Order: sequence, then structure tokens, then C-alpha cells
Amino acid sequence: MPAKRKPLISGNWKMNLNHFEAIQIVQKLSYLLKKDDYAAVDVTVHPPFTDLRSIQTVLESDRIPVGLGAQNCHWEEKGAFTGEVSPAMLAKLNVGHVITGHSERRQLFCETDEDVNRKVKAILKYGMTPILCCGETLEEREAGTTEEKVSSQVRAGLAGVGADQVATLVIAYEPIWAIGTGRNATPEDAQAVCKAIRGVVSEEAGTEAGSSVRIQYGGSVKGANAAELLAQADIDGALVGGASLDPEDFARIVQSAHSA
Ligand code: PGA
Repeated sequence: MPAKRKPLISGNWKMNLNHFEAIQIVQKLSYLLKKDDYAAVDVTVHPPFTDLRSIQTVLESDRIPVGLGAQNCHWEEKGAFTGEVSPAMLAKLNVGHVITGHSERRQLFCETDEDVNRKVKAILKYGMTPILCCGETLEEREAGTTEEKVSSQVRAGLAGVGADQVATLVIAYEPIWAIGTGRNATPEDAQAVCKAIRGVVSEEAGTEAGSSVRIQYGGSVKGANAAELLAQADIDGALVGGASLDPEDFARIVQSAHSA
């Protein structure tokens, strides 16, 4: 069996924590994570835009090997797009990973698959890594259309992206019914969908890209349930919402990624 990919644990803080609170969380996290953790696991945090500069400064000045991430961006470099933030601006802050197509953006802010595809390309163009999110609703799961839904989101998100670039990106499988609900998919169900996603990537961009792409699971991941999810063959990490606001629980998730 080929070696598993290096796990990536990402904290999606959503619309929480002002820049003072954010600095405290990162400092606490840096006391909890050790050399061994960073050697075995990649870790990113995704604060709100207003916190990015402060967190960048703390990570760089204290040499904390946690990657800086963002939660969204526009696809244009600049222009008359009131309220938007461009990928060029994020790249200038040394942002490495940008979440795109999160179900909250799709559902609450009407983002389409086409928007997500534009964002994926723009994030790559500025040298950053997209974390492309996909996931089904409870109705879709009950109707047995999970794989169909997730596959079509992944195909649309990757349209026109070269195989070399596909190999470097991250896909997050987040069943919508599991986000913030305390109800997570069983490790077996999550594994089955992540395996199907890897199959879709292989069909679209070749088997090399399929075996290199990192696939995260997201949806009510906590210290208490992370190990069994992360032990699955096609799950290479987690996109963590609520639990990422608690540095101790987030550190526990990181640590279960290398005991997994
Ligand atoms: P949750 O959120 O961990 O709070 O369920 C996950 C996400 O939306 O990325």
C-alpha cells in the first residue's frame, strides 16, 4: 500500500474572534503543539480577514510553523467589487491556503459551482492552495445521491485546472448535516465518500493527481472523534470549525492525526 499523504489539519474560525482574541488562541496553540506534531502534520488556521495581518505577524515573529489561511476570496485581482478581498491581497500577507466553496458560502451567499471554479483558479494563480469544499445535504444523503452531488461539485470546481495543480490541492468533504451539529459521519461513511472523491480526481486529472490530492473530512470533528476518522485510508486530515476555537481540543486533533 502506498504511504499516506501528510495530514493537514485546518482550523476554520468562521466569523469568530477579533484580532486580540485571535492572537491569544494562536499563542496558546503554539505552546501546545510540539516539534513532533509539526514534523508529522501540517496545520493551518483560517481567521477572519480582519485578523490576518495580526496573525501573520505573530506566526512570523515567533516562528510558529502554523500556516496562515483564509476562508474565502474573490477571483479578480482588484477593481470595483465592494466588500470583497482579492487573492493578490491574501498572497501578500503570506496566506498559504484558502477555503473555497464552503457550504455556508454556497447556501447563505449563493455561491455557485462556477464561482467556486473561478476562485480555485485565482487562488492557484497567486501561488496559494485552495481547500475546495463539497458535501451533501441530509435530503441528498437520505435520497442516496451523496456521491453524485459531491462528484459534480468536485468536477465543476476543478474544471480547466491542470493535472499538476490538481495534485497539489486540498479537497474537504463536509456533509452539510454534520457541520456544527455535533453529528459526524461514521468513519466508514466518510471514508467511502472520500474514496469516491479520489476516484473522481483520478478520472479528471489522472491517477497521480488522485493519489497526491489531500482529502480532509469536516463536520463536528473533535479531539474525541478525530483519531478514528483520520485512520481511514482516504482521509488525510480535517477541516475543523467549532473545535478549532478551543486550542486544547484543536491540538488534540492535530495529535491524533499522527497517532492515526
Ligand atoms: P464544525 O465546522 O467542525 O463546527 O462542524 C466544520 C466546517 O464548517 O468547516
